[in-house]
Amino acid sequence: MARGDHADDVSPVTGETEVILASNRGPVTFRIDDDGALRGRLGGGGGLVSALSAVPAQANALWVCAALSEADRLAARSAPDGRLDLAGHSTGAVPIRMLDIEPVTFLRAYNGIANSVLWFVHHMLYDTAGIPIFDGRFRREWSSYVDYNASFAEAVAEEAGPNARVIVQDYHLSLAPQLIRERRPDLAIAHFSHTPWAPPDYFRVLPDDVAVAVLEGLLAADHVGFLTARWAQAFLACCETVLGAKVDLAQGTVEYAGRRTELGVHPLGIDSDAFRARADQPDVHARMAALRTQVGGRRLILRVDRTELSKNIVRGLLAYRDLLRRHPEWQGRVMHLAFAYPSRHDLPEYREYTASVQRVAKEIVDEFGSPDWDPLILAVDDDIARSLAAYRMADVVVVNPVRDGMNLVAKEVPVVSDHGCALVLSREAGAVAELADAALVINPFDIEGTADALHTALVMTDEERRKRSNRLASAASAHPPSMWLAEQLEALADLPND
Ligand code: G6P
Repeated sequence: MARGDHADDVSPVTGETEVILASNRGPVTFRIDDDGALRGRLGGGGGLVSALSAVPAQANALWVCAALSEADRLAARSAPDGRLDLAGHSTGAVPIRMLDIEPVTFLRAYNGIANSVLWFVHHMLYDTAGIPIFDGRFRREWSSYVDYNASFAEAVAEEAGPNARVIVQDYHLSLAPQLIRERRPDLAIAHFSHTPWAPPDYFRVLPDDVAVAVLEGLLAADHVGFLTARWAQAFLACCETVLGAKVDLAQGTVEYAGRRTELGVHPLGIDSDAFRARADQPDVHARMAALRTQVGGRRLILRVDRTELSKNIVRGLLAYRDLLRRHPEWQGRVMHLAFAYPSRHDLPEYREYTASVQRVAKEIVDEFGSPDWDPLILAVDDDIARSLAAYRMADVVVVNPVRDGMNLVAKEVPVVSDHGCALVLSREAGAVAELADAALVINPFDIEGTADALHTALVMTDEERRKRSNRLASAASAHPPSMWLAEQLEALADLPND
């Protein structure tokens, strides 16, 4: 059916919103204070949240997201139709409707399918000798994932004005475009993946009907966006292999079931002015003073990640150990700060991973530490000001994911670096498409290769490091979030509305 036509069983158009953003995580999270009061906090959540916050001020927009915790649920329940803004909460640039999805449904969809299956597939994280196992439990979780996606579709269908534009985010919501279209064929729908996309051989790990459902879910969108051409091409290859869809690689289009979906590559970069201003706040200066005392006159190697399996923190630490063993001249002259802030601790794999990061870190400290030298400081708590302070001071930053949609740390560090920072960058990070020229590109599985790159970074002349860092900073700022979002909104505005 063409956009604008209305079948009898579709939802009536009652809403007025012109632009709807839909994502699992929204820009505000709540906690319950000791006095029992609900407190909202804006920010956090990585690239997705900061990118979506760039919605133009003049747009009549609404952000639909899920309640992620009990405190979020309380806030959502006590607001009219989950509208946090109408309940007087501060929601940043865009009003928010927070969905109070039944906890069991939410947890099965978020932990069971989104984080344990789709995230693992797209990042190719399975140890396939033993996992995945798709059994009855998986089927229950999958059915919750369908319900969870339907809750978003219901909310969007209610809120959207005629012919509104809807931008759906990430693997949590891969069925939503189709479920929205069924309810509201008049809407212009985009889906954007902040992750990589798995190549067909790996994607077909999914049970066949699920693989088909995920692809059909996305293809119901008018525009399907990815961070790099590599992920877009993998998606096209899956459409061809799994669905037998007609794919045009040059045009970036898929024809399937009588519809045509356009692909877009929209890299996401940094709003450098805003980011530099944040990194110049008094809390960052205070952390810089403290770090200076810790680091002394030594060279500083930094990494900052969520404690996330795909970030490859353990191999990064092993590479640092290899550097100290094969280049003992660096002992006492270098310090490694590894900030690994907590993430997805409901999943046992993540808890175990955090423990192995801590174990390897301890081994390094035991092997090399001395009364007057801390070779490595691992911090597993979240402290944005401390991260920004270290960004400014680092000589080398290690970004070595086994696979990553983009990786914004690789872009953020050069933008705020005080004296230039060398970037050791995995060839499997989406950011390599824009930063390869000025980075030291590594194979993230190769410990010695990574250690060699660390050594090269440390011996680089100050001038060379500064030059490379400046090139990195301009590439990192080339596609700020406002541009990323505007491109997708334009793609939807340009659709033939026949
Ligand atoms: C990645 C995903 C986002 C997600 C973020 C944090 O960047 O692409 O969709 O919000 O990780 O993960 P979390 O599970 O804490 O929302």
